[in-house]
Amino acid sequence: MSLAADTEAALRCLDETNLEEIGEAAAGPLAARLADVLRGLGHHYYALDDPLVADAEYDRLFRALQALEARFPGLARPDAPTRRVGGEPLDAFRKVRHPEPLLSLGNAFDADELRAWYERARRGLAEAFGDAEPALVAEPKIDGLALALTYADGRLVLGATRGNGRVGEDVTAHVRTVRDVPLRLALPSQQTAEQASLFGAEDAVAPARLEVRGEAYLPKSTFERLNEALAAGGGKPFANPRNAAAGSLRQLDPQVTAARGLRFFAYGLGPVEGTEEPASQHETLDWLRGLGFPVNEHIRRCEGIEDVIRYCNEWNERRDALDYEIDGVVVKIDRRDFQQALGAVANAPRWAIAFKFPAREATTRLTDIALNVGRTGAIKPLALLAPVGIGGVTVSKATLHNADYIRDRDIRIGDRVVVKRAGDVIPQVVGPVEAARTGEETAWQMPATCPACGEPIARSEGEAEFYCISAACPAQTIRLVEHYASRGAMDIVGLGEKVAVQLVEAGLVHRLDDLYRLTPEALLALDGFKEKKVENLLAGIAASKARPLRALLFGLGIRFVGATVAALLVEHYATLGALAAAPPEDLEAVHGIGPETARGVVEWFGHAPNRATVEALGALGVNTARLPEEPVAAEAAREGPLAGRTFVLTGTLPSLARAEATARIAAAGGRVTGSVSTKTAYVVAGTSAGSKLSTAERLGVPVLDEAGLLALLGS
Ligand code: IVH
Repeated sequence: MSLAADTEAALRCLDETNLEEIGEAAAGPLAARLADVLRGLGHHYYALDDPLVADAEYDRLFRALQALEARFPGLARPDAPTRRVGGEPLDAFRKVRHPEPLLSLGNAFDADELRAWYERARRGLAEAFGDAEPALVAEPKIDGLALALTYADGRLVLGATRGNGRVGEDVTAHVRTVRDVPLRLALPSQQTAEQASLFGAEDAVAPARLEVRGEAYLPKSTFERLNEALAAGGGKPFANPRNAAAGSLRQLDPQVTAARGLRFFAYGLGPVEGTEEPASQHETLDWLRGLGFPVNEHIRRCEGIEDVIRYCNEWNERRDALDYEIDGVVVKIDRRDFQQALGAVANAPRWAIAFKFPAREATTRLTDIALNVGRTGAIKPLALLAPVGIGGVTVSKATLHNADYIRDRDIRIGDRVVVKRAGDVIPQVVGPVEAARTGEETAWQMPATCPACGEPIARSEGEAEFYCISAACPAQTIRLVEHYASRGAMDIVGLGEKVAVQLVEAGLVHRLDDLYRLTPEALLALDGFKEKKVENLLAGIAASKARPLRALLFGLGIRFVGATVAALLVEHYATLGALAAAPPEDLEAVHGIGPETARGVVEWFGHAPNRATVEALGALGVNTARLPEEPVAAEAAREGPLAGRTFVLTGTLPSLARAEATARIAAAGGRVTGSVSTKTAYVVAGTSAGSKLSTAERLGVPVLDEAGLLALLGS
């Protein structure tokens, strides 16, 4: 069996096994099996930078083996993966032996596990130091790769990866290209006033030799740009920023590394010679800052474990606001003498632990790709998955974005895929696990015709989305009818998704104007329709004829015309006919309307079947003129989805010009200002974003990209 199949089988076996009750006879073979699988997975992760499973799945297998070894100590073998510190170094690089091993960390997955760890530490300290509450330091756990940087007489002489914890790889030339890594220490004579203020007088001594430990990582924004560039060049995108960081560092050519934009945070020390080591973790971090190292600004000293738990919860919520991935919080006992007294077990210190955030990724089988036809005719591929639990929710469908996304990542039906579910965002397929391929997988292609109506589909130059352009497509009609009847639009009570499907599938509605030709007889023939229901539906439809023009305009489902844009247009055009006749320049002259929106409107009215619908609606008595009481856009904006929220724009957005983004935010009731403060609701960042982005991160202000902004605007 392949490693992938073994892994899957082992995970399934854990689903069915109660580790607390298993007998020794069954535990032996299970432990051996887990050890085999973990060894293989470890090789993929550490040596190949190409993980075969999501971290949470690896952790689960690892913990199961630990649990078995704890119950049956006879099973604990010296060569088991639980005894080892990390992966094997790659052959391509010179090996370096770490003077002191780089330990790994035990994990805590919930608050109680953190409390239990703290209790153990307290008990461990009680005899020598009394029963105090030792202070802690909580640090974001940066999801990158560990580096050990050695400085002799203030100069960087060696940069090494962690490797297996004892032996790593010499990546000095590569590390020199990381802009955060000082090549010389900021020694007292060269320090800035700020750095100097971090030193006490007696600390102002240059260490003769010093090893600084920390994490190299790739910012999310850099990672996305890198993947775009890789995809554009026909290369294989990385699954996540961590793999991209590892892959970027382990390049034979350091010039390639240089171009990748790696960053670094220092978080600790290895051996130090020629000067006194700081007496605590928080002083160590200050000292490192003073020497010129970047130290994460969100690190916090905590008085007790409950404070730490609050910090963990806070960052679990806020992690998306950072421009780098964090997968948990590292919690450390602050005082160095306490750390020394506690020491380490196996390969992990007793004085530190990693709190792991709930999983957001899992791997599962992609069983098929379905297509969804939206009301604008956009055809979106949807992944059908073997159900998998992610952070307490079962996921069986996920977005695949568009055909290019699938092609760029070479996602095939039958693949084992990584699925990510973050916050309230729709789950998405991140990419395939290529190493798990059996050869049975089949490549996928966007069909040439619409799955709902069989008419040819097309996409315009430069667009990612394919569209079904047939006006008669039932799938589009269903979505459109549903939208037309929705609350912000024509507000037809009783006409939701289910009824829309019935009406279209029974052939009663092909176009929106057909709604106004429905008869009681035709409706009574539908499943579940009794007289009362028929009466209510017809009354709702009749009442919609008097809806304001902006509701009708929104309900027509014109691309980029959301409720607020509709209100803006109605302010300038008193009838649907006037709008239909407006040239694009006139539309663009309307404050808040950009070229894209203008084009959307012109194209829509340029399409003969749409004009026929509009004429028929008017002839059937639907209001197509501005009502005297229609609120002007300013009022509509006050009720807009972004009412009362302040935005800051930074960098260049991929498709929206700054003026258009500003206008659209304003039309939705939001306000755009120039500087970021804690009152800022969102910072919208594009490429080459400046200091506003870092300020947002520092203040914990959520950061959106263009897609995020458009989602907020509801277009
Ligand atoms: S301290 C003995 N602090 O997490 C303490 N590690 O298994 C060892 N990591 O890959 C690590 N952020 O590189 C520490 N603030 C932080 C960290 C951190 C990320 C990584 C570390 C290692 C893993 C720990």
